[in-house]
Amino acid sequence: MSAPWWRDAVIYQIYPSSFADSTGSGIGDLPGITARLDAIAELGVDGIWLSPFYPSPRDDHGYDVADYCDIDPVFGTLADFSALVDRTHDLGLRLVIDIVPNHTSSSHRWFQDALASPPGSPARARYFFRDGRGEHGELPPNNWRSAFGGGAWTRVIEADGSAGQWYLHMFAPSQPDLDWRNGEVADEFDRVFRFWLDRGVDGFRIDVAHGMIKAEGLPDEVFRDDTMGLSELDAYHPPQWAQPEVHDIVRRWRRTVDEYPGDRLLCAEAWLKPIAALAQWARPDEMQHAFNFPYLTTPWSASALRDVVTETLAAFDAVGAASTWVLSNHDLVRHATRLAVPGPFVMGDGIGPRSPNRGHDPAEGLRRARAATAIMLALPGSAYVYQGEELGLPEVIDLPDDARQDPTFFRSGGASYGRDGCRVPIPWEADAPGYGFSPTGASWLPQPADWAPHARDVQRAEPDSTLHLYRRLLAERRRRSLGTAELRWLDSGADVLAFTVGAVTVIANLGSSPVPLPNGRVLVSSSPGVDAELPPSTAVWLAPQPA
Ligand code: GLC
Repeated sequence: MSAPWWRDAVIYQIYPSSFADSTGSGIGDLPGITARLDAIAELGVDGIWLSPFYPSPRDDHGYDVADYCDIDPVFGTLADFSALVDRTHDLGLRLVIDIVPNHTSSSHRWFQDALASPPGSPARARYFFRDGRGEHGELPPNNWRSAFGGGAWTRVIEADGSAGQWYLHMFAPSQPDLDWRNGEVADEFDRVFRFWLDRGVDGFRIDVAHGMIKAEGLPDEVFRDDTMGLSELDAYHPPQWAQPEVHDIVRRWRRTVDEYPGDRLLCAEAWLKPIAALAQWARPDEMQHAFNFPYLTTPWSASALRDVVTETLAAFDAVGAASTWVLSNHDLVRHATRLAVPGPFVMGDGIGPRSPNRGHDPAEGLRRARAATAIMLALPGSAYVYQGEELGLPEVIDLPDDARQDPTFFRSGGASYGRDGCRVPIPWEADAPGYGFSPTGASWLPQPADWAPHARDVQRAEPDSTLHLYRRLLAERRRRSLGTAELRWLDSGADVLAFTVGAVTVIANLGSSPVPLPNGRVLVSSSPGVDAELPPSTAVWLAPQPA
C-alpha cells in the first residue's frame, strides 16, 4: 500500500489578501488565486493551504471569523470557491483550508446574541463571560494576557447601561474565545467541517489547535520568561493551552474527516515544546500534521539544527506520524531576513524602522535562506512553504507606522511591529502596476519600490534565481522520494550539517569559511558556482558519482 499523500507532501501557503487581486480593490481574492494557480502547480508542490477567506471585519485579517460557512465579499463568492476547488484539483493539487475554532469574531451572531443577553444566559455560555474581581467587579477575572499585548479580558456594558461582565479573548478583543465545554459549540463545528468537506476540500489547517479548552476555574497564570513564544509543557503547564480535553475535540474532528474518502488532512497550529508534546497532536487518531515551530525558531547553527531535526524525527516517529518542517508563514519574520538578524523571534515581533536588530546584510540573508530551504526540502516528512519565499522575498522592514495593519502593533503601543512585513502583496511582473498583484496597482500594504528583481517573471528568466532553486529542489525531492526516505547523519565539522537521505547526500556550511566537498555529483546547490569547495551559507545535494 502506498503512503497517504500527506506523508511527504509539500504544501504551499496562500495568504489570500496578498496573493493576487483580480478586481483592483488592493486586496487579493479567490478569482485572483484561481487565475494564478498554474504558477504554483509549476513549482512542483503537492497542495495549497489557504489562510481564512470567511466573512470577517478583518481586525485580524480574517482570523476573526463572522460566518464560518461563507466567503467574504472582498474575496468573492461560494461559486468562486467552487471554481478554485475545481482548478486546484485539475492541476493535480490538494486544497487545505484554515479553520479558526478557538475564537469567533465579535461580529459573529453568537457573540452579538451574547452581548444582548443577560449574565448567566445560554447565549453567554458559548463564550467565557465572567464577573470581575474587586469590590465592583472592576478588575478582570484573572491575570491572563492577550497574545497580541494587553489583558485578555474586556468588560462589556450591559443592556441597562451599567458596567457589566468581562469576556475572555486570548487574542484581540474582537476575537472572543469560545467555550468548548459547551456542547453547542462542538456541534456547530461538526457542521462547519462537513460544509467544506462536502465542497471538496482535502484538509484543514487548525488555527490555535492547542487552545479551545481552559483549565477549570480559570486560574491565574504563573508568568515565565518564554523567549520563543512556545509554551514549554515540561516546565510548566499554562492554564490556557494544551489542556488534556483538547485531544477529545481533535479526535471528534478526525472521526468526521475520516468519514470522507481520500485521506483528508488535519494540520495543527500549536505553539508547543518540547517536540514530544507537540507530537501528541499528531497521534494516529488525531491530526496528521503539526507545524514544527521549534524547527522554525532554531537559530542559524549546525548543532542546533541537527538537534532539532533529531528530536523531531524521534518524536514524530514515536507516534507514527510524518515530521513536518516550515521556515516561514504569515505570522513570522520571513526567513530570508530572520536568518541574518539576531533573534529570538516571538510570533508578532516583526522588524521595523526603529528595531535595534534591523541592520543586516540582505544578500547574506538570502544566501542563508536558500541554504535553509535546501536543507528543509531534503528532510523526510512533509513541508510547508509560504507564498513569496520561492521569490526570496525579504521581510519588509520600512513600512511606515500609518500603513501598518496588524493588531499586534496597535495593542503593544508600537513596541512590537507585528506581522505586516511578511504579508506585503507578492510581485508577479516587474513592470506591471503593483508588480502585477492588482490591475490598478492598489495594494493594502505598500509594496517596496525595489521589488522588481524579485518578480516572478524576472526570476523565470534567470536560471540561478531563487524560483528555479525551489523548482529544482522540489523536482529532485519528488523524483528521489526524499520525503519518505530515511535520514542518517554523517560526521562533519562543527559548522557543517551533513546527512544522507535515501541516495542523496546533503551538506550545508553554516560557518564562515569554505569547506571541502566530498565526492559526488552536485544535483542542486543553493548558491551558484559551487565546485570543489562549499562556500559559507550554502547547501548542496549530491548524488553518488557514477562509477
Ligand atoms: C494563529 C494565526 C494568526 C492569528 C492567530 C489568532 O496564530 O496564524 O495569524 O492572528 O492565530 O487567530
